[in-house]
Amino acid sequence: MKTIGVLTSGGDAPGMNAAIRAVVRTSIYNKARILGIKQGYNGLLNGDIEEMNLSSVADIIHRGGTMLRSARCDEFKTERGINKALNIIQVFGIDGLVILGGDGTFRGAKNLKDAGVPVVCIPCTIDNDMGYTDYTIGFFTAVETVVDAISKIRDTSTSHGRANIVEVMGRECGDIALYAGLAGGAESIIVPEIEPDIDEVCRKIIQGRNRGKLHHIIVLAEGIGNAYQVAKEIEDKTGAETRVTILGHIQRGGTPTSFDRIMASKMGNMAVELLLSNQFGKAIGIKCNQIINVDLDEALNSEKVFDKQMYEITKILSI
Ligand code: F6P
Repeated sequence: MKTIGVLTSGGDAPGMNAAIRAVVRTSIYNKARILGIKQGYNGLLNGDIEEMNLSSVADIIHRGGTMLRSARCDEFKTERGINKALNIIQVFGIDGLVILGGDGTFRGAKNLKDAGVPVVCIPCTIDNDMGYTDYTIGFFTAVETVVDAISKIRDTSTSHGRANIVEVMGRECGDIALYAGLAGGAESIIVPEIEPDIDEVCRKIIQGRNRGKLHHIIVLAEGIGNAYQVAKEIEDKTGAETRVTILGHIQRGGTPTSFDRIMASKMGNMAVELLLSNQFGKAIGIKCNQIINVDLDEALNSEKVFDKQMYEITKILSI
């Protein structure tokens, strides 16, 4: 293994830069050439590739986003796209790839692996929706951003005696809502994994109001559907003025937390170590605080299990 390529694909996640830094520096430490592939799989299709050195990754460990840039690439999902990528891999003499991203990115990596390319994947997505790993890089930074927003919204919620819905990202996964809701002391958390019970939310608003509670924070995961419809139902049933804040892409940016940087650094290092020791087709993850690696197919087939126990705790603590 002489030449390693690294790319970031799909939605960016805070901590991707720390992982890129670890990949680049571990490669150089081990005397391998390291190439940065730009804009995700697009760069593999059009040869947007540049050699990296120690200073390419200076001053990025604390920055959100990805210095290699990212994209969602539909052409890469086609056979024609894969063949184009295989040509570019050959032309640039790439012996192995480190691929950073979420589920969709991993599926692209699997296609490359099945075509014989040595790949190792690192889970980077704010959604934390991958079953084989306890956490994905970027998740805790997004949770931190949401908790900060909840605290601010709680101030105005109290001042006006309103109910406030905070809509968070996560696609079909409710983890951002669950973790941020618990840490932010939300009164109600609505996630796709649990059948929504708006009457229960309303009951809490009314009971809270009756005992003099002024604010009411509802964290709602985007996978639920329309936050404004939920707000209308709550207003109709409780008479409480209800506002909606959709946090959107603010959750994708910002300085990565130490935990995300530490995971990213360890995973980036392991990715290169695996390639250099001829262990391919792997996905790196974290289980019970240990950095692990599993076969990419196994990672893609692992079902994400929602933490119902944690959800129950949020209900007990918000009575
Ligand atoms: O997968 C990360 C994510 O931020 C999801 O939470 C969200 O649904 C989606 O990406 C948004 O995608 P885009 O940035 O393409 O609008």
